[in-house]
Amino acid sequence: MKDAPLILGIESSCDETAAAVVRGRTLLSDEIASSAAIQAKYGGVVPELASRAHTDAVGEVVSRALRVANVRKEELDAVAVTYGAGLLGALLVGLSFAKGLAYALHIPLIGVNHIRGHLAAAYLEDETLAPPFVTLLASGGHTAVLYAKSETEFEILGGTRDDAAGEAFDKVARVLSLPYPGGPHVEALAREGKNVIPMPKMLKGAGGFDFSYSGLKTHIINYVHTMSERGAEFSRADLACSFQHAALDILVEKTVEAARLKGVNTVTAGGGVVANGYLRDALTDACRREGLRLVLPAKKRCTDNGAMIAAEGLIRYRAHDFAPLSLNAEPSIPLR
Ligand code: KG4
Ligand code: ZN
Repeated sequence: MKDAPLILGIESSCDETAAAVVRGRTLLSDEIASSAAIQAKYGGVVPELASRAHTDAVGEVVSRALRVANVRKEELDAVAVTYGAGLLGALLVGLSFAKGLAYALHIPLIGVNHIRGHLAAAYLEDETLAPPFVTLLASGGHTAVLYAKSETEFEILGGTRDDAAGEAFDKVARVLSLPYPGGPHVEALAREGKNVIPMPKMLKGAGGFDFSYSGLKTHIINYVHTMSERGAEFSRADLACSFQHAALDILVEKTVEAARLKGVNTVTAGGGVVANGYLRDALTDACRREGLRLVLPAKKRCTDNGAMIAAEGLIRYRAHDFAPLSLNAEPSIPLR
């Protein structure tokens, strides 16, 4: 077992084909090819198109990751790959490619749970980051506050009771006729507006660390429909801004509250929604106020990427957690 192994990470669970190389916790390359532009025409991810796009891209993206890292594939110590959760056909492309590499190079295959990858992204940001800490996970499929006991074990303090935060952004984007993927477009529109439209109350004290987005989403849908039925004018930017505050303030509040409850001095975050500038600023301010150290992955390592898979691969490598070549794709894996 090497202290700082060379690990290739491959990600293909949704519409990004990504690959990265790490040496220990040092990121040597982080390459990506996205089919989001193709998917945007359909207003969401078409699974078959995603699988085809991964098949086109995976070889080139992996070669690029090795080239940029200045590493020959024969030097790799392991290949880590997302085996779930995600779109079945999409996962199978990355998984099969990784298996082929591991088999040909006689190196271990490491199966990575995509969500664990999002959580591991923070480790690449700060060499000294070590558990225990509290993490905010906010992606298209998950929204939760977690207590990381060690690199491999965490406790779920609370999660969403219905929609994930990213899902809410995507649905609101659709109502506002913004393109897929919705999050960045809602954020851009919100920047032009003010937080002046009243939003329903989010789950507070009684909800513990749980979240609920369905009420907020329905409120936005009803608001837009009522206004257009009446032929009334309204500011889409103000609506986006008010929604963004309601959707994200609660995440900041509960994350900081969890850190206080657990008595930790460090907070991290991960998942596509954490690329949101308003959320990043609000978390930064709240942590500063509370005297907490905040470790945020770079924006491009919050949305899907290969580096986070390599980072989680390193944790699995150190835990001797290797997968057989029979490892199959799992479209849904619970948060664990
Ligand atoms: O982590 P991710 O890339 O994929 C999943 O594992 O789900 O997250 C995608 C989600 C989408 O719902 C997308 O709209 C949201 O993250 N997202 C954002 C932003 N960038 C991506 N939400 C709010 N603001 C953003 N800037
Ligand atoms: Zn993701």
